[in-house]
Amino acid sequence: MNPSYFIETYGCQMNVADSELVEGLLQKQGYTQSKSLEAADVIFVNTCSVREHAEEKVHSQLGRYDLIKQKRPDVLIGVLGCMAQSLKHDILENRPYVDIVLGPDSYRRLPELLARKQTIAKSQVDTTLSKFEVYDDLFPSRKEGINAWISIMRGCDKFCTFCIVPFTRGRERSRSIHGIVSEVKQAVSEGFVEITLLGQNVNSYKHEGKEFHDLLESVAQIDGVKRIRYTSPHPQDITDPLLDVMATYPNICNYIHLPLQAGADSILKRMNRTYTKEQFIRLADRIRQKLPNVGISTDIIVGFPGEKTSDFAETIDVMNHVKFDSAFNFKYSPRRGTKAAEYDDRVPEDEKQARLIKVIELQKTHTLERNKSFIGRVESVLVEKESKRSKDQWVGRIDANKWVIFDKGIAQIKDIVSVEIIEAKGVSLHGKLINKAEAA
Ligand code: SAH
Ligand code: SF4
Ligand code: F3S
Repeated sequence: MNPSYFIETYGCQMNVADSELVEGLLQKQGYTQSKSLEAADVIFVNTCSVREHAEEKVHSQLGRYDLIKQKRPDVLIGVLGCMAQSLKHDILENRPYVDIVLGPDSYRRLPELLARKQTIAKSQVDTTLSKFEVYDDLFPSRKEGINAWISIMRGCDKFCTFCIVPFTRGRERSRSIHGIVSEVKQAVSEGFVEITLLGQNVNSYKHEGKEFHDLLESVAQIDGVKRIRYTSPHPQDITDPLLDVMATYPNICNYIHLPLQAGADSILKRMNRTYTKEQFIRLADRIRQKLPNVGISTDIIVGFPGEKTSDFAETIDVMNHVKFDSAFNFKYSPRRGTKAAEYDDRVPEDEKQARLIKVIELQKTHTLERNKSFIGRVESVLVEKESKRSKDQWVGRIDANKWVIFDKGIAQIKDIVSVEIIEAKGVSLHGKLINKAEAA
């Protein structure tokens, strides 16, 4: 019988996409997907280091795998992804039950190391980071039939002082437009309705003189691509040509993730974010002016070292000006090896918590206010799943990336339908199906 694998994925969409790549490699070797962790011959965990909490979750999972291995000594355990680098020594010294450790640029070696592990007792480790690896010629194994994640660049050269990603993922490098276009065509032919272009710094894409807006335009022109999203961009690289391409092609969703991180200039500078409060606000205004009804989401970190009450007030001020449609809010978490981890003017935990609650509460009011401005509009919605509350209702996302709930009618999953927005409650919209014909 063919050996089976189980893979658990933590972290961002890049990791989700990488896990699909690893599954593609395993399936080529004859492995099949196991329905459960307990029954698998090989267990992989794709890890994230971005905050302490993410690492803690992986540590507790590893404890679970240890117990499984005690019962079934033949099972192989593999640690993949962003924690590989920092865990390498810990694993080799303290976790003898881990058989394979592979960093994000070493997945091509997986079949080889799996085969070698069958004959050698020693753990197999490769955490080398590459300046070139983009896995251009490998096709991931995708399961879900609605959205296809397509990785277009890897790594990050921005070195924000709080962030571990440049260390876990290495230098920036981009795939060829040709390779990306053929992967998009394949995803379309497999029936995927939405394409999401991925990269740690998606809009610093550069390949043979082509920039991100060129790539986006090439993808928008491919026959059969109904919806395109991209994540995660950096404000510094949101250019006018990019906004113009977004305004021109109706299949590019009217939505931008615009990570603010902090509002005070002194903190932004200390974070190495490369923009001032004023520049960020002007950019957000320009986006709203060029792309009417655009959805803008953000990331905010509270309690960065040295953030005074008056600095935090500047973050609140930007929020009040821009009125983000949604926000991911985090307490600063020191990461070993990053510059900010060396700053000793840390904000106390209870103060971080209090600031976090403030941004969450304020964001709720902004989300509701922005959502209410959509009432009365007819939006094109991609039907994604059944509502948890009712078997008679669908949920899907409008172009601006807001969830809307509506009675099923004759609509089917994967349809793009017209829905009139009638109510805004909590973080969701409620609507009425207008017709099943494809909306523009
Ligand atoms: N490349 C992406 C995001 C990477 S991490 C970008 O620049 O947008 C996603 C988010 O996690 C970041 O935007 C930041 O808000 C948060 N984050 C990263 N490092 C963090 C840390 N040390 N503590 C708290 N939040 C952090
Ligand atoms: Fe991290 Fe900054 Fe790079 Fe984003 S841009 S991955 S926050 S270093
Ligand atoms: Fe985490 Fe690595 Fe993504 S650290 S957020 S999985 S790039």
